[in-house]
Amino acid sequence: MSNEPEEPRRKMVKPPTGGNLSGRAKGHTAVKTAKQRTQSSAKWLERQLNDPFVQRAKAEGWRSRAAFKLEEIDDRFHILKRGVRVIDLGCAPGGWVQMAKSRGAAHVVGVDLLPVDPIPGAEMIEADFTDPAIGPRLMEMMGGKPDVVLSDLAHNTVGHRQTDHLKIMGLLELAGDFACDNLKPGGTFIAKAFQGGETEHLLLKLKLAFNDVKHFKPKSSRADSSEIYIVAQGFKG
Ligand SMILES: C[S@@+](CC[C@H](N)C(=O)[O-])C[C@H]1O[C@@H](n2cnc3c(N)ncnc32)[C@H](O)[C@@H]1O
Repeated sequence: MSNEPEEPRRKMVKPPTGGNLSGRAKGHTAVKTAKQRTQSSAKWLERQLNDPFVQRAKAEGWRSRAAFKLEEIDDRFHILKRGVRVIDLGCAPGGWVQMAKSRGAAHVVGVDLLPVDPIPGAEMIEADFTDPAIGPRLMEMMGGKPDVVLSDLAHNTVGHRQTDHLKIMGLLELAGDFACDNLKPGGTFIAKAFQGGETEHLLLKLKLAFNDVKHFKPKSSRADSSEIYIVAQGFKG
């Protein structure tokens, strides 16, 4: 398994337009006053403002810095070929949807707990992916088996290590099951996971279901984050 990131192929691509830059529900984002702000949130804000990926996303019109993670994954693994059909789990504010479209995806279907402003050529619903009715609904919207299932699902952490871990693993397992139940043979599953997470069970399942399963840490994924991506290619069907 290799997680050595390569220098990304820099393409002057323009993200599909539609909606505001944040892609979240339109309106005002409240920022606490300096007095109210805790030291850690002030640090977070400082890091956001000085983050080159945040600056690039803003300058180029990507809705999230997360878009560059998918860009790096695709530069390395060449997944988003022209005409592919993609399902994106946890798609708000829409950075991955934009990236998939800009790289030639024919159709993207997405789901998130949060509303996402429209993106041409994509269809996104506001729903909880853990609701058993949502998987079939996404498949109905796709109108056939997808070539790629993406999952950047991440819940709001509660700060309790074990609870957070269980939640993360629950979402990841569900996404993996969804991919294995629905992908087209030869298809690809990409999912956010966490280093140190007990992913052995899922990895075992993926290794049986796919020809090639790798881990990848994009440069745009913060070094101090335990986040890592699973890239499973060649779904056996
Ligand atoms: C890291 S963000 C995704 C960023 C996205 N890939 C992008 O490029 O803009 C993770 C998303 O997962 C969503 N999420 C978490 N739990 C979910 C659930 N049960 N159902 C649907 N979406 C969920 C969150 O609302 C959040 O927007």
